[in-house]
Amino acid sequence: MTADTPLYDDPAFFTAYQRMRAAGSGLNEELEQPALRRLLPAVADLDVLDLGCGDGTQARWLATAAARSVLGVDPSARMLELARRHKNPLVRYVCATAEELSLPDASLDLASVAWPCTTSPTCPPS
Ligand SMILES: C[S@@+](CC[C@H](N)C(=O)[O-])C[C@H]1O[C@@H](n2cnc3c(N)ncnc32)[C@H](O)[C@@H]1O
Repeated sequence: MTADTPLYDDPAFFTAYQRMRAAGSGLNEELEQPALRRLLPAVADLDVLDLGCGDGTQARWLATAAARSVLGVDPSARMLELARRHKNPLVRYVCATAEELSLPDASLDLASVAWPCTTSPTCPPS
C-alpha cells in the first residue's frame, strides 16, 4: 500500500472492515444508519449525493426512498466494486475523494455524508 492508496483499499483493513459490517452488529447498523435517516428530509424527487458512500448501502436506501437520482462518491475502488454489484438505474458511482470532487453548480439538491472524515487526513475533526 502506498501513501496514496485509500485506506479502504488496503487488503487487511478492507477485510477487517467487511467482517465487522457483515456481522451486522456494528455501530453503523445499530445507531448511525437509523439516526442519519431520521435526520434527512424527504428525498423524493431530489438529486442526492452520498459522499463517502462505501458499499452503497445508503445510496441504495436513498433510491428506494424515491430520490430522483443518487450519486455515490468514494475514493476506494474496493468499496465501489461492492456497491456496483447492486444494479440500480437511479444510482451511479464515482471514484473520488471529497476533495477531488468537482460538480456543476446546482447539480444536487442534498448531500448525505456519513463518516468519510474518520479516515481522511485532510478532513478537519468534527
Ligand atoms: C466508515 S466508511 C462509511 C461508508 C458509508 N458512508 C456507510 O455509512 O456505510 C467511510 C468511507 O469514507 C470513504 N472516505 C474516506 N476518505 C474520504 C474522502 N476524503 N472523501 C470521500 N470519501 C472518503 C472511505 O473510502 C469509506 O468508504
